[in-house]
Amino acid sequence: MTDRRQEDKPPGPPGPPRRQLYGRRYGRPLRPARARLVERLLPRLSLDLAAAGSVPALTGLFETEPEALWLEIGFGAGEHLAAQAAARPGVGFLGAEVFVNGIASLLARIDEAGLRNVRIYRGDGRDLLEALPEAAFARVAVLFPDPWPKTRHQRRRILQPETLDHLARVLGDGGELRLATDDPDYLTWMLEKTTAHPAFEWLARRAADWRERPPDWPPSRYERKALAKGARPTYLRFRRRDRTARGSGREAGEAP
Ligand SMILES: C[S@@+](CC[C@H](N)C(=O)[O-])C[C@H]1O[C@@H](n2cnc3c(N)ncnc32)[C@H](O)[C@@H]1O
Repeated sequence: MTDRRQEDKPPGPPGPPRRQLYGRRYGRPLRPARARLVERLLPRLSLDLAAAGSVPALTGLFETEPEALWLEIGFGAGEHLAAQAAARPGVGFLGAEVFVNGIASLLARIDEAGLRNVRIYRGDGRDLLEALPEAAFARVAVLFPDPWPKTRHQRRRILQPETLDHLARVLGDGGELRLATDDPDYLTWMLEKTTAHPAFEWLARRAADWRERPPDWPPSRYERKALAKGARPTYLRFRRRDRTARGSGREAGEAP
């Protein structure tokens, strides 16, 4: 049997130890057409952090300068990302995903719809977040992240206080963070961590605000699966407080 931990070791020269990735990079072998698509399209649409230097320049990433940048971490098969990108051609979308089969699905959607406003980071979204410049994004989505339900695995959850620090850093003032889960325990965790974070203000005013998916929030594959098995997803929207406001960061959320 292949040892996935071995596969997940990044190639390259020895350096400082990298954090452990708790997601699969590979699934079933790609069908030949998908494999060709990955080979043809991914290099053109990839954000390569190693080539970009310590802080990637996001200007010039797209053919025309977008009116705003949105980020999605762990986009899965890319349904939500591709639908958002199709609905907002003026916005530039950056998606991070580790699972190559998911990336191939997003590439197929990009190809079919002729989307020109999507770029992909193939790798750990936490590495991307650390490298991205301050206040670059108007919106960030982390939808149905892996719940890691066992208590001893909770450190594997992508939403940790330090991730929220980085999310607060890369979001511009008034920007929006969107989170979703169908796992009641992860929901409690998400709400505890985000409401405790000084940069985020939960936008919900009534139960429907978290029980019903907003109309401008397309469904994702994981959400469909959750609904099909009778689970109840929750949709959370947070506003990134203005940096000038008192207590809006940690302290000011500028430098985690
Ligand atoms: C439960 S799936 C949800 C996928 C999608 N957001 C949806 O709603 O259908 C979680 C996704 O996060 C990805 N993932 C897990 N850890 C990640 C990380 N550190 N960086 C980027 N993607 C990650 C997984 O590969 C998987 O596709």
